Amino acid sequence: MVVSAHPDASRIGMEVMRKGGNAYDAAIATQFALAVAFPVAGNIGGGGFMVSRSASGDIATLDFRETAPGAATETMYQDSLGNVVDGLSTDGHLAVGVPGAVDGMVRIHQKMGSLPWAELVQPSIDLARNGVVLTEKEASGLNYTKEAFLENNKHVPYLVRNKVWQAGDTLRHLDLARTLERIRDKGREGFYAGETADLLVKEMQRGTGIITHEDLAKYTAVWREPVVGDYKGYKVISMAPPSSGGIALLQLLKMVTPYDLRDYGWQSTKTIQVMTEAERRVYADRAKYLGDPDFVEVPLEELLNEEYLKNRMGTMSMAQATPSSEVKAGELPVYETEQTTHFSVVDPAGNAVSITTTLNGGYGSKVVVEEAGFLLNNEMDDFSAKPGVPNMFGLVGGKANAIQPNKRMLSSMTPTILEKDGKLFMVVGTPGGSTIITSVFQTILNVLEHDMTMQQAVAAPRFHHQWLPDEIQHTEDAIPAPVRAELQSKGYVLKQRGQFGRVDAILVLPDGKLEGGADPRGDDAAVGF
Ligand code: GLY
Repeated sequence: MVVSAHPDASRIGMEVMRKGGNAYDAAIATQFALAVAFPVAGNIGGGGFMVSRSASGDIATLDFRETAPGAATETMYQDSLGNVVDGLSTDGHLAVGVPGAVDGMVRIHQKMGSLPWAELVQPSIDLARNGVVLTEKEASGLNYTKEAFLENNKHVPYLVRNKVWQAGDTLRHLDLARTLERIRDKGREGFYAGETADLLVKEMQRGTGIITHEDLAKYTAVWREPVVGDYKGYKVISMAPPSSGGIALLQLLKMVTPYDLRDYGWQSTKTIQVMTEAERRVYADRAKYLGDPDFVEVPLEELLNEEYLKNRMGTMSMAQATPSSEVKAGELPVYETEQTTHFSVVDPAGNAVSITTTLNGGYGSKVVVEEAGFLLNNEMDDFSAKPGVPNMFGLVGGKANAIQPNKRMLSSMTPTILEKDGKLFMVVGTPGGSTIITSVFQTILNVLEHDMTMQQAVAAPRFHHQWLPDEIQHTEDAIPAPVRAELQSKGYVLKQRGQFGRVDAILVLPDGKLEGGADPRGDDAAVGF
């Protein structure tokens, strides 16, 4: 089964498995297909993380996160007075980090793939040439971004046309097809060297970009140690730094363990209070301690220490909200257009892959590499442009996430796998910027504590707290009116907002069958055989 943000991408991944490919092959094919079918977030010009578990229980995590270019500096998004310049880290060429997606796919294939590389890339080349039929959401996304595409490119990108895009129109990606052919034929070198690299560097020079041939040549994805913990007998396997996702998810799960959420009930005042108070404390820690482990020391063991987490929750009261101004990072021993994307894969043998991949904002920096047909990320905004100044998700950061050459920017992506009794139980993840962690957290609790099916858990309305701003963000239908009133009487600030998160997950049912959960907030599709 493949559950992804686009039916064509899910189908392409599934067909690879039907041909005898494994989950890793299917994941690679799905990643390339999303770059074609779901350009708002699917990518070859971005990066991401993979968490995997083989049928025999071996776990692995690959970090193919972008890096800061070699010429990046700590203050590159500040003016001469030290103020952060609006838009510099989010739009245009200077916002782009060195892409990691292609090297990531190559490394997964080298270590775990079973079908020839070319067979995994070819379906996306065909899709790019034949074109993708736009859905309503995709057409309106392209129309909405038209001005930004024009502002951030010297050429008129192929994603722009004079008349408005409509559902049912076919979008062909002809330059992208040629880039994918180079990747098909030359693997890593088809992207990080030769014609693609030349076109990318030329594109940088057309704007104020700073990525060089050297930056591209030296980009390497990194196999990392997974973050692993236990929640009531379920083994939770997730992504280590430079994503904050795994540590934060485990902190949240451990912090709520002593509370009987099942008894309190789904979206009850007490359940929301406990989850919110945990979230506020975890995001305060995130802001202070987390960054690229190759550059800063991340106190992982201390942050996951049970005594530490118990003490952190010791300051919460059921009588009233703890103001975020009173919560700082522990003493140790956004709004995004939310356009990251996640997909989950399980093959017939039971190998499982959980990949979250991103350009950061919707269509990333909006820069399309001329003649190469792919969008570049604006991942540099995930660094802290200046301590205490919020990024586009409203997240604040400090020294640990300051910009340095070749460093990876902190992420919230939380591709996760759960095991029960030594067997695969769930594959889960979502886009959503700063809301990624809390959406994965809620989806897991919806199944484990509130007995929802995978589809119900994915579809259920959500709420989110991230320490600062000090508010519970929730969708219209997420919290019943009496519960909202009760929370407000205890001092919680509630803020209604639009939908967030698009969780795509797979649950292994007791009889071994797979249940896909495809988020109804998008065009997401679960496809299996
Ligand atoms: N760009 C979103 C994240 O990595 O958290």
